[in-house]
Amino acid sequence: MSNKGHGSLNVQYSCVVVADDLGLLDSRKNCGLEASGSSEKKVEQIVTMGEVEGTTGKEHVPYSILSGNLNTDAAWAYHNATKHSYAGIRANPHFLDWANQPLPFKIYPSLEPLNLTNEIRQTGVAAFSAIAESIPPETEAQPDLKTLAQLFYLSAGITRRRQYPGGEIYFRAAACTGALYEVELYLVCGDLNGLEAGVYHFSPGDFSLRKLRSGDYRGALVQATASEPAIAHAPLIIVSTCTYWRNAWKYQARTYRHFGWDNGTMLANLLAVATSFGLPERVVTGFVDADVNRLVDVDPKHEVAFSLAALGHFSALPPQPPEVLPLGLETVPLSRKEVDYPLMREMHAASSLESSAEVGTWRGRTPLSNLPLPAGATIPLQPLADAEMPRESIEEVILRRGSSRKFSRSPISLTHLSAILDRVTRGVPADFVDPFGTQLNDLYLIVHAVEGLDPGAYVLQRDRGVLECLKKGEFRTQAGYLGLEQQLPADAAVDLFFLADLRPILERFGNRGYRAVQLEAGIVGGKIYLAAYAQGLGATGLTFYDDDVIRFFSPHAQGKSAIFLVAVGKSAMRIP
Ligand SMILES: Cc1cc2nc3c(=O)[nH]c(=O)nc-3n(C[C@H](O)[C@H](O)[C@H](O)COP(=O)(O)O)c2cc1C
Repeated sequence: MSNKGHGSLNVQYSCVVVADDLGLLDSRKNCGLEASGSSEKKVEQIVTMGEVEGTTGKEHVPYSILSGNLNTDAAWAYHNATKHSYAGIRANPHFLDWANQPLPFKIYPSLEPLNLTNEIRQTGVAAFSAIAESIPPETEAQPDLKTLAQLFYLSAGITRRRQYPGGEIYFRAAACTGALYEVELYLVCGDLNGLEAGVYHFSPGDFSLRKLRSGDYRGALVQATASEPAIAHAPLIIVSTCTYWRNAWKYQARTYRHFGWDNGTMLANLLAVATSFGLPERVVTGFVDADVNRLVDVDPKHEVAFSLAALGHFSALPPQPPEVLPLGLETVPLSRKEVDYPLMREMHAASSLESSAEVGTWRGRTPLSNLPLPAGATIPLQPLADAEMPRESIEEVILRRGSSRKFSRSPISLTHLSAILDRVTRGVPADFVDPFGTQLNDLYLIVHAVEGLDPGAYVLQRDRGVLECLKKGEFRTQAGYLGLEQQLPADAAVDLFFLADLRPILERFGNRGYRAVQLEAGIVGGKIYLAAYAQGLGATGLTFYDDDVIRFFSPHAQGKSAIFLVAVGKSAMRIP
């Protein structure tokens, strides 16, 4: 199979944005700058001793050397200020300035493209295995250039195009809020079969790489991550950055949450494709921000590094990196003018890590999510055995994926739902997940039409493999309201809400924990998309009225925060 026509840079200027998630509200959607009446408490700043992985083992360092990351007032302030509410939406309508719409691509006019091959290799690995499993960390594996091209294509490549009167939309392999595609990918690698060591920018528009630096700079990332072992042994690292304006044009200050969601759906694909190629993978979110930004030469006022993905394993460590000098490369402005939302930059600065000592202290030891023992009726999940799972390959499922635009209201089976819940929650290989299998987010469900389950509200008791019923009832109208008055969550078979208790997460990880919790939700949400499509179902990410979601699931969810929402069901438009 091959993917046809990746397009070229000269057509990129005519793109329009898909008019999605407007629902009943059309373009009046805003960032909900309501005053916080939240019951969420601020956590006290931790003033204690931390541990740093040093060359001589664990060393104690006073937290006084740590940056403002531990003053978690910043994360609470950002979170509360960017909640959606019924009143906030109506009080602060936001209209899109179509004449000032940002370009969906980053363009370096002075750099020559290195075109990637557009052949899709069939790995034959079933999507469900690729989603659920990861390759043991020390499995020796080095991707070649063709594998690399497939990794880029199936996580961030253009997989579909649609003509509109104003231009053409280029839909990509992973879902993204508003199809605005604010996440850019960069490659930092040693010599690979078919590609010289360097730092490259990936351009989905013409499916190519552009070389920003020659030489092996992986050592710079080893330093920036305080010698994170997966980074230190990775033949290549993919750096994801997020561009404020490209998404804030529509979503204003709430965009910083979208960074985690949209980077997460992309990483869900990347991790699954890496597994299908037998590559160990690890998502690393603890790094010295300024050092990574400097390496990929981005201006942090506009674009910031958000995550690293270490792919493959090679026993030898990279050499000492060359000096990282500024490049000052020209890029095409995204639009005529940019509107600044300082709240996001403040959130980013407050969650930045400033030294490798701080990074070493930061990672690991996830606070355990302690759901209370089930008090209501429990229904065991009924996942199929591996041999009974659908066999469609990961690459076929990714190429078929798209967000459902209308659900049919017809039921799915408990087996369908169980397969999703069981396979997507088996663990994300990430530095904020320790031990492996821990999760920052809990899954709460509104079930409308699942054969074998009464309609109602449920919470997933992951450790027990059961759904606990919180209340029975037909909640389609409420679900539509909670999903920002859109029809999709009302018509779905089931709505899966990600809720997290931010208090222990921020206490443990500081403001950076806010990035982690959003990213984890995006990754698991991206896996839900794939697990749904692998079974012939449809899915879509959705936004929501924050505090109303918590109220709906309370008292069980009291004190938690709404992080993300995915709806799953049968598509009314076509077989997905
Ligand atoms: C985090 C997230 C939130 C989303 N929220 C909404 C939403 O509120 N309403 C909606 O109609 N679509 C929503 N979408 C779907 C996007 O509009 C869709 O992913 C985008 O248009 C790209 O299309 P595709 O997923 O079909 O490739 C969301 C997607 C993501 C990843």
